Amino acid sequence: MTATLETSVARSTVDTAVTLSGVSKVFGHGASAVAALDGVDLRVAPGEFVCLLGASGCGKSTLLNIVAGLDHATAGALELNTSRPAVMFQEPALMPWLTAARNVELALRFAGVGRASRRTQARELLELVRLGDVADKRPHELSGGMRQRVALARALASTLASGDEPGLLLMDEPFAALDAITRDVLQAELLRVWETTNTAIIFVTHDVREAVRLGQRVVLLSSRPGRVVREWSLDGTSSDDVVQDINTHLRKVISGHAS
Ligand SMILES: Nc1ncnc2c1ncn2[C@@H]1O[C@H](COP(=O)(O)OP(=O)(O)OP(=O)(O)O)[C@@H](O)[C@H]1O
Ligand SMILES: [Mg+2]
Repeated sequence: MTATLETSVARSTVDTAVTLSGVSKVFGHGASAVAALDGVDLRVAPGEFVCLLGASGCGKSTLLNIVAGLDHATAGALELNTSRPAVMFQEPALMPWLTAARNVELALRFAGVGRASRRTQARELLELVRLGDVADKRPHELSGGMRQRVALARALASTLASGDEPGLLLMDEPFAALDAITRDVLQAELLRVWETTNTAIIFVTHDVREAVRLGQRVVLLSSRPGRVVREWSLDGTSSDDVVQDINTHLRKVISGHAS
């Protein structure tokens, strides 16, 4: 039987954007219960860019959902010292009947921004992701990469507009469905936007090279139930050796998963 503790969500003044302490998650009950996370400890500093790697099914999306407040941990504590976290998924999930600008404005409305400033702020955010000239187009008129840029602008809208505290962006394989060239461009764009906005980012990916290119820190989760097994701090000039080392450890957790 699994003890059920209530997860506490608190805000504090410490110099940490997100703290997960002993976070566990079990889906279901009894014989059909699935342990997705097991005692995850993770700290993310304000403005830090952390990439999360791990085998398929090890609980990465579950972890993001818990941080986003879309799901609750079975045990452990989550502490947020950020504005409302925004989530970005593999699919942009835009409202098809709204223009790019209106999609972003909608997020601003949910974040409590008044009608008068919504239009200006939406335009600014679309400029930031270099979509100023297609603000009035609907999602079906945009390429996959452009749609993900709108989703990025919308995510920034909901986390940056919702307070003076530093923003938090949770990204779950946001570029996985894009072709290699578009992905490369969007990775560069994301780094530029991150440097401009100083938002903390937790970025889930299966791609070690992507993690090393983007992250200041790469965190590897074990196979299910996920817990942090290893971390790498990167200095922006990380060599192929780091990629090799991370690949070796990732392969180990994946093969452990298969056995
Ligand atoms: N709502 C749910 N109900 C029951 N089980 C779930 C639910 N969500 C996730 N799980 C299970 O929890 C485990 C972790 O799932 P999760 O989606 O977090 O993995 P992941 O690391 O994101 O995988 P992937 O890399 O394939 O996206 C899986 O075994 C999954 O089947
Ligand atoms: Mg996932």
